[in-house]
Amino acid sequence: MAFSYKSRFEDALEAVRREGRYRVFADLKRIRGRFPQALWTGPEGMEREVTVWCSNDYLGQGQNPIVLNAMHEAIDLAGSGSGGTRNISGTTHYHVELEAELADLHGKEAALLFTSGYVSNEATLETLQMILPGLIIFSDALNHASMIAGIRHGRAEKHVFRHNDLEHLESLLRAAPADAPKLIAFESVYSMDGDIADLKGLVALAKRYNCMTYLDEVHAVGMYGKRGGGVAERDGVMGEIDIIEGTLGKAFGVMGGYITADAVLIDAIRSYAHGFIFTTSLPPALTAGALASVRWLKQHNEVREQHQERAATLKRRFAEVGLPVMPSVSHIVPVLVGDPVHTKLVSDMLLMDHGVYVQPINYPTVPKGTERLRFTPTPFHDDRMFDHLVKAMDKLWSHCNVKRLGGVAA
Ligand SMILES: Cc1ncc(COP(=O)(O)O)c(C=O)c1O
Repeated sequence: MAFSYKSRFEDALEAVRREGRYRVFADLKRIRGRFPQALWTGPEGMEREVTVWCSNDYLGQGQNPIVLNAMHEAIDLAGSGSGGTRNISGTTHYHVELEAELADLHGKEAALLFTSGYVSNEATLETLQMILPGLIIFSDALNHASMIAGIRHGRAEKHVFRHNDLEHLESLLRAAPADAPKLIAFESVYSMDGDIADLKGLVALAKRYNCMTYLDEVHAVGMYGKRGGGVAERDGVMGEIDIIEGTLGKAFGVMGGYITADAVLIDAIRSYAHGFIFTTSLPPALTAGALASVRWLKQHNEVREQHQERAATLKRRFAEVGLPVMPSVSHIVPVLVGDPVHTKLVSDMLLMDHGVYVQPINYPTVPKGTERLRFTPTPFHDDRMFDHLVKAMDKLWSHCNVKRLGGVAA
C-alpha cells in the first residue's frame, strides 16, 4: 500500500486534539483609536465587540497616533516594501535612524535590525558559535524557543541551567575549562510566569568566569527603565551586558527585532548571520513606526508607571476573589487553571458569554499541568473593564469548578 502522507498529518492533528491543546485562533480586528477593543468574528460569521486582555501590545503603542502617522508618512514618501535585503538596496534611511535610536536606548555603540525578535535570537546565537569556535553556551531552562533554536543550530557545547538558579549556573561554569570562550544566555522578564531574572547576579557570575552575556529583553523593552531600555536599564547593568536583544512587535507596537552591542560585534554579526543577510529587510512603514514609538516611549515614563499600576491592581483584584494568580513580579498576570480542557473552556466562555478575550496557554508553551490564562492589562484597561473581568472570572471559576487560591475548588 502506498504511503499515506495525508493520514500522517491527520494523525498529528488528532494527537493535539486528544490532549485538548489544538489551537484555534480568535479572528479579531482591532478597532483603531479604541484600544483594547476589537471586533471578533465568531464561528457563524457574526461580528461582536470584545475587550482584548492578552495583547503583547503592552502599552497600546500599536494605536498611538504618533506611530500611525509616522507609518502613513513613510508609505507616502517611500512606498511599500524596502526593495530587498539590506545588501541589495534594502537599507533605507529609516533603518539607519532606527538602529542609531536603539543603540542609544540601550547605551550601546551599535544596533542591528532583523525581521523579528525570533530571527534576531536565532540568527545571532547561531552566528556567535560560528565566530567563536569552541564556544560553550550556558542557557536558562526557560529560554524562548528562538534562543533554543539558535543555540541548537550552531551545535556548540551547551549546558542548560535550572531556571534563574545562579548556584546551578555557577556549578556548571566551575566545571567548564577556564580558557574556553563562554556565553550565558538568559531573558529578563519571562513571559509566561512573569518572573524577572537576577541580572546583577548573572553579570557578576559572567565577570567571575570571563563569559559573554546575551540578554533577551523582548518582554521588557519599552516597559522598564526610565527610558524604556528594559530591566537592564532599571537595574543599572546595561553597560555590563554584552548583547541586548529586543523586539519592536510588543511594547513598541509594530514589528521587527534587533540586537545592540559593541560596534565590532554588531559588524561581525551583520557580516556573517544568514538570518540577517539573506532576507528582505523591514519595510519603511514598519521601521518609521518603530522609530516614532521608541522615541516617544523614551520620553513618557508615566505610561510605564500606569502600566505597572494596572498590573498590580489586577493581581490584587483577582486575589481578593480567590483566583489563583501566579506569583508574577512583572506586568504579566498569569492565572493558573492546571489542565488544557478547562483552560480552553474558561477562555471560550469568557469570549462567548462575556466579551472578554484571553487565550488559553497550553503545552508546549508551558509545562503540562500548569495550563493557564495570561492577562496583560495595559494603561488603557480602565476600572470598569476590571470590574467586568473580575466578575466574569469569578463566575466561571465556580461554574467550571476550577481550583481557587489554597487549592480549593468552588
Ligand atoms: C522571550 C521572547 N523572545 C523572542 C520572541 C520573538 O519575538 P518576535 O515576536 O518579535 O518574533 C518572543 C516572542 O513572543 C519571546 O517571547
